[in-house]
Amino acid sequence: MNRRDFIKVAVAGFGTVLSSGAAINMLNTKSVPETAPIAEAAPQAADGKQNVVVITGSPHKAGTSALLADKFIEGVQQNGHHVFRFNAAFEDIHPCRACNACNRNGKCILNDAIEQKLMPELLKADIIVLITPLYYYGMSTQLKTVLDRFYSHVRSFDGKKSLLLTTAYNSANWTFEALVEHYQTLVKYMQWHDLGMVLGYGCGSRYSIERSDFPNQALKLGQSIK
Ligand SMILES: Cc1cc2nc3c(=O)[nH]c(=O)nc-3n(C[C@H](O)[C@H](O)[C@H](O)COP(=O)(O)O)c2cc1C
Repeated sequence: MNRRDFIKVAVAGFGTVLSSGAAINMLNTKSVPETAPIAEAAPQAADGKQNVVVITGSPHKAGTSALLADKFIEGVQQNGHHVFRFNAAFEDIHPCRACNACNRNGKCILNDAIEQKLMPELLKADIIVLITPLYYYGMSTQLKTVLDRFYSHVRSFDGKKSLLLTTAYNSANWTFEALVEHYQTLVKYMQWHDLGMVLGYGCGSRYSIERSDFPNQALKLGQSIK
């Protein structure tokens, strides 16, 4: 098979895999909801408090992004909101197998912590908070594993609010470009309402982040949730 044929076959195969999935929306720029109505933000709970789901993606229990999570949650709880924290690295989680048994709106065949513990909380969440160390300029595998599983309820998260908190060793101004681009693309596709980000440049260790302003920024962002 020459190179041109290979590309044809590969593209055709890829299209077949995605043909019934929401992922087709992501690839077909014509159907990306550029002009589609943006979902309204989910209404607040009856007690006026918000359901905040925090998903962390670091295997460091007392690491740098964990500190941002702690400070953010501290701020959120000062206003009495409900917080559910899911530390993906310490849970029994498995990647989406693309079996489509969920039909994009149902039970996942993987009866793990995402399905049992996280999904019920996510479905009723007002705010979804993604917290991750920067790994090769993207989010960690642990967090991405959780995100891919959103596929089982693909449009049930429309209109929710979201935030991104992240840390990295590098301090160059381009450090978070790819991750922010990914996050903003998610916000667009999921029709989320972005409430803000904390980008922890130059935070390769607990020592460095504790001497930075980023924990304070995370606290303030948490307090800003009204
Ligand atoms: C697998 C791996 C990949 C990483 N990739 C990057 C990277 O691309 N850019 C960067 O600045 N730091 C990178 N780092 C450093 C971490 O982002 C940094 O140490 C961060 O503070 C770790 O957060 P944590 O303590 O919450 O786990 C990487 C670390 C690991 C273990």
